Amino acid sequence: MRKLLNKLLIKFGILITKAPTLLADHSLTTSELIPAELTEKVKVTEATGTPDNELFRIFSGDTNVHKWHHYFDIYSRHFERFRDRPIRMLEIGVFRGGSLRMWKEFFHPDSIIVGIDIDKSCAAHEIADQNVFVRIGSQADPNFLAEVNGEFGPFDIILDDGSHKTHHQIVSFGALFRPALKDGGCYMVEDMHTNYWLKHVDSPETFIEISKQMIDMLHEPYFDRKETNFRHGHSEALKEVELSYLSANLDGIYFHDSIVVFDKKKRDLPKSELR
Ligand SMILES: C[S@@+](CC[C@H](N)C(=O)[O-])C[C@H]1O[C@@H](n2cnc3c(N)ncnc32)[C@H](O)[C@@H]1O
Repeated sequence: MRKLLNKLLIKFGILITKAPTLLADHSLTTSELIPAELTEKVKVTEATGTPDNELFRIFSGDTNVHKWHHYFDIYSRHFERFRDRPIRMLEIGVFRGGSLRMWKEFFHPDSIIVGIDIDKSCAAHEIADQNVFVRIGSQADPNFLAEVNGEFGPFDIILDDGSHKTHHQIVSFGALFRPALKDGGCYMVEDMHTNYWLKHVDSPETFIEISKQMIDMLHEPYFDRKETNFRHGHSEALKEVELSYLSANLDGIYFHDSIVVFDKKKRDLPKSELR
């Protein structure tokens, strides 16, 4: 009932920021096929240590950055491969500039780090002589995003740490993934837990819901086809197929606690081999 009411409110554009006081947040619904051993409640205790990696040490040296501790291992896992050369990074959400400075220190010194934010005061965090740039505008404005891409892109890494509104996350991904992210690049959206907090949900489907649909798109080559269509040397093997752009340029999607990562890579047709 509450879910239906939420949907109606979103549909008629009246989901207001005070909605959580009015409506319940997301509830967990799981398939009955998931074994009871896996859905049984078990205790999870508070973290006692801190992440043991270089990025966390850099983070600890700056007072103007807000990050969840468990993100540092995830950043290290996905960003390490970009460290040995100058890259271009776009971060949505500047706040006090701490994360821009953190990325500047973490990546190759000749890298270009660009932050965008809707708050004009964030312009003060630009350090142009160190290739740290800030542009003011909304992540929900495709024209602004195209301008930023025209000036600094395409990017190796795009990190969405902006408004955390589901509609904004969807618009930014739609406007940036194709034109503004390089082949081999990485698009990361963080604070995805906000997709389960109603005050951030302002679209009929959340970003995490459409990310799950993109898992199906990753497997689009196999729809209505059979294994022999991909088998090396087989008479039924396909030479060419038409796929959606996302499917044809997606290497993988990674779901972590509160972070979704899309690795971009132009794909060949999958090939199987029977030896
Ligand atoms: C979570 S803070 C960013 C934190 C920063 N990346 C860090 O790690 O310290 C979110 C930022 O998004 C900005 N923001 C809110 N709505 C926005 C929008 N529509 N477009 C761009 N930035 C937005 C806010 O002004 C705020 O500075």
